[in-house]
Amino acid sequence: MCPPEHFTVAYAINPWMDTTVVVDAALALKQWQLLRETLAGLGHAVHVLAAQPGLPDMVYAANGAFSVDGTVYGARFKHPQRAAEAAAHQLFYRSQQWRFADPSHVNEGEGDFAYLPGAYGGLILAGHGFRTEAAAHAEAQEVLGRPVVSLRLVDPAFYHLDTALAALDDRHITYYPEAFSPASQRVLAQLFPDAVIADRADAEAFGLNLVSDGRHVILNAEASAMAGKVRAAGYLPVPVELSELKRGGGSVKCAVAELRNQT
Ligand code: ARG
Repeated sequence: MCPPEHFTVAYAINPWMDTTVVVDAALALKQWQLLRETLAGLGHAVHVLAAQPGLPDMVYAANGAFSVDGTVYGARFKHPQRAAEAAAHQLFYRSQQWRFADPSHVNEGEGDFAYLPGAYGGLILAGHGFRTEAAAHAEAQEVLGRPVVSLRLVDPAFYHLDTALAALDDRHITYYPEAFSPASQRVLAQLFPDAVIADRADAEAFGLNLVSDGRHVILNAEASAMAGKVRAAGYLPVPVELSELKRGGGSVKCAVAELRNQT
């Protein structure tokens, strides 16, 4: 995670960002700290990356890389405003002796990659259409040695995979079908017949931008209907207030890069 110490909406690279609205920086930091404490309280070790001036979106740490079993596929940002974030993430992984692969194609890390360790021996779901290039999906498969299912995003409001789909546990997902092309919807229905289906209101409340440990599902407090759906599916929703991070077009999942060590 990376604290929103320099968070602001100074440019607009997704439809949620409105540069005319002033962000409450103190509130953003307070909400982020609560998210961090919530994760720690559930027993997760949280590493903190130092925030850098001039990189207001660095708080969305999920976009910095994607790791599977000790191997890291580095990010390469689409927009120049975020390009320098990749190096900070790379430095973190290299200093911790992770196997790090430099990407040749544009990809925004866990923003567009989800991992299901219990499905087909480890399955990667990947989004393209707005940020990550489809060519990066093939590259991720070569680097990580896991099957990658390519899914096409079609709604600019849900520009990263993690705004429209999330893993609930090692083999189950939740998603908002209309965020995907008709063909990708078929693929998802075929692979995940028992998925928790979200609607547009759930997705707009950033209810799919969640972090799950297989039991606790941490999600944006605004997404109360989504909390009800995950509870009905047998999980324990843990709502956190993240109204300020939503102004940049992100929520819980965007703020967390999962570190998947070697198993
Ligand atoms: N303002 C950031 C951007 O548009 C938000 C990134 C959200 N992160 C995510 N994993 N969806 O790049």
